[in-house]
Amino acid sequence: MRWLAALLATAGLLPAAHAQEPYYKIDTPDQIRESSRTLAYDLMLFYQGNKTGEIPGILPGPPTEHKGDYYWWEGGAMMGTYVDYWHLTGDTSYNHVVTEGMLHQVGPNEDYQPPNHTASLGNDDQGFWGMSAMLAAENKFPNPPEDQPQWLALAQAVFHTQAAPNRHDNTCNGGLRWQVPMTNAGYNYKNTIANACFFDIGARLARYTKNQTYADWAEKTFDWLWNVQYIDHDNWAVYDGGHVEHNCTDINRAQFSYNAALLLHGSAFMYNYTDGDEKWKNRIDNLLIGILRDFFPEDVAYEVPCEGHRGCSQDMLSFKGYVHRWMSVVTQIAPFTADKILPTLRKSAQAAVRQCVGPPTGRRCGFYWQQGEFVDPAVDKTSGAGEAMNVLAAVSSLLIDQADPPATNETGGISRGNFDAGTNSRDNVEPLAPITTADKAGAAILTILILGGFVGTWGWMSIGD
Ligand SMILES: *[C@@H]1O[C@H](CO)[C@@H](O)[C@H](O)[C@H]1NC(C)=O
Ligand SMILES: *[C@@H]1O[C@H](CO)[C@@H](O)[C@H](O)[C@H]1NC(C)=O
Ligand SMILES: *[C@@H]1O[C@H](CO)[C@@H](O)[C@H](O)[C@H]1NC(C)=O
Ligand SMILES: *[C@@H]1O[C@H](CO)[C@@H](O)[C@H](O)[C@H]1NC(C)=O
Ligand SMILES: *[C@@H]1O[C@H](CO)[C@@H](O)[C@H](O)[C@H]1NC(C)=O
Ligand SMILES: *[C@@H]1O[C@H](CO)[C@@H](O)[C@H](O)[C@H]1NC(C)=O
Repeated sequence: MRWLAALLATAGLLPAAHAQEPYYKIDTPDQIRESSRTLAYDLMLFYQGNKTGEIPGILPGPPTEHKGDYYWWEGGAMMGTYVDYWHLTGDTSYNHVVTEGMLHQVGPNEDYQPPNHTASLGNDDQGFWGMSAMLAAENKFPNPPEDQPQWLALAQAVFHTQAAPNRHDNTCNGGLRWQVPMTNAGYNYKNTIANACFFDIGARLARYTKNQTYADWAEKTFDWLWNVQYIDHDNWAVYDGGHVEHNCTDINRAQFSYNAALLLHGSAFMYNYTDGDEKWKNRIDNLLIGILRDFFPEDVAYEVPCEGHRGCSQDMLSFKGYVHRWMSVVTQIAPFTADKILPTLRKSAQAAVRQCVGPPTGRRCGFYWQQGEFVDPAVDKTSGAGEAMNVLAAVSSLLIDQADPPATNETGGISRGNFDAGTNSRDNVEPLAPITTADKAGAAILTILILGGFVGTWGWMSIGD
């Protein structure tokens, strides 16, 4: 997720449209279902993956190859949005698209590391696909055919590859790096989202399978994020990350909404798994105070680091939707939060639909919810799938109080798992270029040095020269 460039690029103020009567009505469950149906239809127009000759599972991209605006992970996030859409509304229209897309992208080792995308493969990118697979298991999304990988096993595969020793070196006392291949830019960054995805899948696997190993990893990962102070010890703000050559003390304090919301979501799963442990309740309470304070000014979702200066990247333009979906599920598995969360999400969704009045349909959605005015995604140099996904998520999640909570193996779950999934695939993450003997020797030295925690970026870059 390469957001830095976009964060720096600021756009000027844009002319505001006049306030209009909202196209979407969301006052009753029927209106919410009907609005969700249209929002889901419009979002699908950005997806080309079920057309002849196109690649299932992804939105047009990646930008690095000039194939479109979207990185690989966002297709996975979109699949998850439709897994929830089906769960919340009962509309099966897109289930076949989702199943096909999610299975096409599993990669040769069935662990969401397809070779096409290793050149920019982050633990977070893999994690987003893993979270969508986990969601399919929890929502009892129809199982893939018997001879295909199953949802729970796919989530386990993602988790197991990330728990492997080669992803956990001693720099900064532990934690996952952002990028997976050590040749990728960003390999020296240990960030919150990569660890939050891992934490979240661990917490959910613990609850689904009742296997304590997953809970231990989740707890260890949360503790690491706390100790490295990516979570502020005073106000529970959640920061973005730091670099291994600085022992992760050069903290980038940008606060992205999905980081905090994902830690809240995972904490709620741990709270539920531990049957209400006070420690996790305390974490939920504090993270929630921080989220409502920082990301919902006047009860409307707001992307703090970029929205004010209209500098949100394609990635960031999709965060509000995950935040709405994750917070909704929190109200099911940590029900004591419902009174605090649901009224805010409702007001935020109302603001979201108020700005969905763009041409040519009169119902197009932009990104800026607070003003209640449509800002054309094209004018704003954004292309729209994230914006459409956000509003679909915010509106459909209003049905959360009528939906089943996430299932577990003991409460009706139907997905088959595999405790060995992914354990043989950990090395298959190198870029596709042929490896020479000299490269292999260099890689071995690098591994030793990096695992020893002795070199920073410049150290290993100069070894390669
Ligand atoms: C792609 O999926 C959409 C939504 O289900 C459907 O309307 C469309 O006909 C599909 N296109 C093809 C070529 O299968
Ligand atoms: C990888 O890229 C090729 C060429 O664009 C495409 O045919 C194939 O479907 C892609 N594989 C995956 C898993 O996306
Ligand atoms: C690195 O930071 C951790 C806290 O995250 C601290 O415990 C450790 O002593 C630091 N190591 C060095 C070499 O400064
Ligand atoms: C755990 O989640 C279930 C819903 O699956 C809920 O009924 C239960 O109250 C939750 N447990 C706690 C301790 O809140
Ligand atoms: C899940 O439940 C099924 C019975 O519904 C049982 O056969 C299976 O062993 C359980 N799996 C795990 C991992 O507990
Ligand atoms: C729990 O999960 C771990 C990791 O997948 C696995 O090695 C172990 O066998 C599992 N334990 C049980 C009792 O299933």
